[in-house]
Amino acid sequence: MTYTEKDQRFKRYTVTSALPYANGPVHIGHLAGVYVPADIYVRYLRAQGEEVMFIGGSDEHGVPITIKARKEGCTPQDIVDRYHKIIKDSFAELGISFDIYSRTSSKEHHETAAAYFKKLYEEGKFVEKVSQQYYDEEAGQFLADRYITGTCPHCGNEHAYGDQCEACGTSLNATDLINPKSALSGSKPVLKDTKHWFLPLDKDEPWLREWILEGHKNDWKTNVYGQCKSWIDAGLQPRAVTRDLDWGVKVPLNDADGKVLYVWFDAPIGYISFTKQLKGDDWEKWWKDHDTKLVHFIGKDNIVFHCIIFPSMLHADGSYILPDNVPANEFLNLEGDKISTSRNWAVWLHEYLKDFPGKQDVLRYTLCSNAPETKDNDFTWKDFQLKNNSELVAILGNFVNRTLVLTHKFFGGKVPPRAALSDLDQQTLAEIASYPEKIGRSIETYRFREALSEMMNLARLGNKYLTETEPWKLAKSDMERTGTVLNIALQICANLAVLCAPFLPFTADKMHRIMNLRAMGWQDAGNGDLLMEGHTIDQPELLFEQIDDATIQAQIDKLLETKKQNELNAWQPNSVKPQVAFDDFGKVDIRVGTVLECSKVPKADKLLQFKIDDGMGGRTIVSGIAKYYPEPEKLVGMQVCFIANFEPRKLKGVVSEGMILSAEDKDGRLVLISPSQLVTSGVNVG
Ligand code: 2FM
Ligand code: ZN
Repeated sequence: MTYTEKDQRFKRYTVTSALPYANGPVHIGHLAGVYVPADIYVRYLRAQGEEVMFIGGSDEHGVPITIKARKEGCTPQDIVDRYHKIIKDSFAELGISFDIYSRTSSKEHHETAAAYFKKLYEEGKFVEKVSQQYYDEEAGQFLADRYITGTCPHCGNEHAYGDQCEACGTSLNATDLINPKSALSGSKPVLKDTKHWFLPLDKDEPWLREWILEGHKNDWKTNVYGQCKSWIDAGLQPRAVTRDLDWGVKVPLNDADGKVLYVWFDAPIGYISFTKQLKGDDWEKWWKDHDTKLVHFIGKDNIVFHCIIFPSMLHADGSYILPDNVPANEFLNLEGDKISTSRNWAVWLHEYLKDFPGKQDVLRYTLCSNAPETKDNDFTWKDFQLKNNSELVAILGNFVNRTLVLTHKFFGGKVPPRAALSDLDQQTLAEIASYPEKIGRSIETYRFREALSEMMNLARLGNKYLTETEPWKLAKSDMERTGTVLNIALQICANLAVLCAPFLPFTADKMHRIMNLRAMGWQDAGNGDLLMEGHTIDQPELLFEQIDDATIQAQIDKLLETKKQNELNAWQPNSVKPQVAFDDFGKVDIRVGTVLECSKVPKADKLLQFKIDDGMGGRTIVSGIAKYYPEPEKLVGMQVCFIANFEPRKLKGVVSEGMILSAEDKDGRLVLISPSQLVTSGVNVG
């Protein structure tokens, strides 16, 4: 039984979650945007007794995978094998309950995707077009946009890619680049004719407009609807569905050697091919029956592909249903900065699972309560700690623990009988009854934050009930009343065990185990009689533990280290100063001297005082490099370069007669400059 009228029409649910590229592990942005909400949705539907299929898998094609393989000197298959395993295992450990997690490099997927293309081809659904594309004559292949670099015509960046300049953010066509160069051979690519097949999206505009802009105005999220509307209003263009590449699903035509399906054509077909792998001959009803509800969970960068391109592929075939909803989330940032794989600015799921064993639900909770449902949001480690300590521990964990401990203390772990009910008892029982529908309706309308917060309100209700009834005090005078109160508190606990399960499945399992609960569905919840009098409760265990400051600081430090590394990686030499005439350079008198003495200048942390043999009787020079040479006496005997005609200056009471030359490395470290062989003290440098 579902709570929204519309959904009563459906007999079963096909729920897909975007297939992550298998060229890196998944991070909290992926989880908050797609997998946590999708998993809450399917767990809820299953608890409702609905027939659900939850599809996931790795997207194993596309140019970034081939580029990574080249960089690492391995095959694309090696790359996807590595990351498919990491991703699949980490999803399983986080409790993302896919019915199948497959991969697009599988033989079954290649067959399904190729057959899908072939059918549309034979039915004349594509437009063939010949266009000119860059070709690398040395490597003997056409170049994907990412394989071409050159100068950006907008900002002059010499390392722009054929599809985008990362310096100024402009989208480019490869032919826009000045001095294009192949990333494969370094040679200058030439333009050559190539034939491709296009999906004529322009012809789909009328029905897309009606289906989305009129049909889904009220039930699709505003961000999703808005993006679709601007695409459609801007006028849809035919879209190439093939590429000149050797990694991907081969185009199943005789005259298509060296061509594969565009990754965005084959990947969504993965949802279908994985269904076939899972359901065998029974697959069609999940994609073709109109009483099946199809829902795609995706991130906002996938909206056009799932709302326009894939539906137009499904429509072109003609036998498929279209998605009923595409609940895309916005992006999650990390500590105020955009999550980025290339800058390693992320919390990686597999690392989290290692660093926080047994704390899957804490991450699920934090990501859901902070999900970027309507706008971009920020994950911070401090907030993660706060959500754990002040919400999971202090509200949910505390309520359940207090109830179970008191039940053991006063009733030997047996559910006590209920006597006469006070007004508060009756009110509380009535309130329990309202939660399954409140939470369910929010989930069915993809408002997962709201649903989670309602679930926590039930735990708050429990805490409030205990605070108002004070069973620990009642036990001194009225055991019968104490029993009634604990009976009701235990009913709330049992309800929580059912209602928290979509969000916190590990906690729900633990509660079921400790409270010896039978398997229950959503319909069982809302009931004040889930636990019979005399039912035995096992010894309580804490549901959640405090997370201390040191643990959080360690994670923050890890990110600070990443930030530092990124700054170092982004280092570039300063631009060269304006030219100087030879005569001007000649005015600076640079010489080599030998260090005779070296010590710290008293009361000056940064300064070292050198006594230099300058071949002219010696001189004192003060230099601000103490931080980098903590044992100054070891410099004695070393030769350094110094400016001999620098105006004398007094530094911390010492007169410095020159300047010692050093290089500043990219991390800010100063390093003394020394001749590569011993020379006579006092000779000129020039
Ligand atoms: O954006 C991405 O990560 C894509 N790999 C999503 C593909 S979803 C689907 F079409 F398979
Ligand atoms: Zn640019």
